[in-house]
Amino acid sequence: MSDITEASTRQAADKPLSPDIKRVLFTEEQIQEAVKRIGAEISRDYQGEHVLLLTVLKGAFIFMADLVRAIDGEVEIDFMAVSSYGAEAKTSGVVRIIKDLNVPVEGRHVVIVEDILDSGLTLKYLLKSIHSRKPATIEIATLLFKEGKQETHIDCKYIGLKCPDEFVVGYGLDYAERYRNLSYIGVLDEKVYA
Ligand code: IMP
Ligand code: MG
Repeated sequence: MSDITEASTRQAADKPLSPDIKRVLFTEEQIQEAVKRIGAEISRDYQGEHVLLLTVLKGAFIFMADLVRAIDGEVEIDFMAVSSYGAEAKTSGVVRIIKDLNVPVEGRHVVIVEDILDSGLTLKYLLKSIHSRKPATIEIATLLFKEGKQETHIDCKYIGLKCPDEFVVGYGLDYAERYRNLSYIGVLDEKVYA
């Protein structure tokens, strides 16, 4: 609790908090530290290999942009878009591919880059779809991991930050397409979706 209060105070000193944000969960600094750590892990694990990073739009776009710059080695990127929550703050369990990949996946070392692992239903679907295209290897890198929320088992090799079961926004994550531009990750005030 004291960590969070401290984080809120520190961030507030840099930039005023959006009035819709109840509290800061992770500051820009804490996020950058986590991204650098995952970048270093991927660089080490794929030394000498060509990695294909697949990002799920839109939530992971900022994480992806920072992550590629934290990786020392050869990377290629591609984007997919799937349906998410729309204007609701809870999972519908329904996943739909809105935009598919442009590159072939067969025989490639794939890392799926996600913003947040919540119920895991989105990733379960994506994994199945990508597995069927026969990659050489497939791993997952998620910036946020909501503890105790997974409705399905997902092996996630790279985890940035563990997150409580609250609706969070910022650093790419939205609520009804808003708040993606916040440089920190914060808990959205219930009054916004009440
Ligand atoms: P899952 O299928 O429940 O694991 O969630 C998939 C997607 O829902 C994530 O990739 C996010 O785009 C979105 N999501 C889940 N939890 C949150 C949240 O707390 N804030 C914003 N988006 C979320
Ligand atoms: Mg979303």
